[in-house]
Amino acid sequence: MKRKKAEASQQPFVEEVRRLEERLYGGQLNEEDRSMMKSERYFWHFRPSHHAATGLLTQEDIALLSQPDRRLLSVGAYPAFLERLLPELGVPRAHILLADKDPAIMTCADTIEAVTFDLLDPWPEIGTFDHIIFPESLCIAISDRMREEGKVPSGDRSASDAEEARYLAAVLKQALRRLRPGGVIRANGPMSHPNVFRLMGARLEEDGFPIVVESRRFFLSVRGA
Ligand SMILES: C[S@@+](CC[C@H](N)C(=O)[O-])C[C@H]1O[C@@H](n2cnc3c(N)ncnc32)[C@H](O)[C@@H]1O
Repeated sequence: MKRKKAEASQQPFVEEVRRLEERLYGGQLNEEDRSMMKSERYFWHFRPSHHAATGLLTQEDIALLSQPDRRLLSVGAYPAFLERLLPELGVPRAHILLADKDPAIMTCADTIEAVTFDLLDPWPEIGTFDHIIFPESLCIAISDRMREEGKVPSGDRSASDAEEARYLAAVLKQALRRLRPGGVIRANGPMSHPNVFRLMGARLEEDGFPIVVESRRFFLSVRGA
């Protein structure tokens, strides 16, 4: 399906998510920005309808994740506004695992299982998943880590692209190891340059993880080839 057509077909789903977020989180919505929640501490938090509108999760994904034994992993999930809304759409709570490096994620674990880890470090043994999502968390995590490690972009674009591709490939390798056959990994938020994705794909192929990548400025989808 062409992208514009696919976006139009998701519009009723986005509207349904918007109605639910207004019911569940009424007082917590940022009234000046239809994509944001009110901010908390020093992080930006996004509305569930923003994630639906960017294609992070679709109506078809919800139907699949509602079937017996399906599993969704959300990495960088805190405070899980999107994930806590999914049971209202029919996804059982037991099908969802939340993850974040922020230990505050455990405050969401009263209703949905949660685990604390840094997505750039080795991931714990948490089983396998049909969908792995990074809601506005993948690029921020990589750019924060590169800054912490002094990997500031230099004038040499090809060197910094290669470095960024190395970080991305390392994260995706861990996700691909936990992805079930036919599963998909998706991220939204500001994305890397297409060169970075090309280098990342080549690196993963070399390491025995051939992938199919769909990328746009604010969206990334990765499947096993
Ligand atoms: C911009 S917030 C988005 C939060 C939420 N997913 C949303 O859409 O509103 C980014 C989230 O990614 C998490 N995060 C950042 N770096 C991370 C890392 N290295 N490993 C795991 N989580 C990370 C942060 O703790 C934060 O909860």
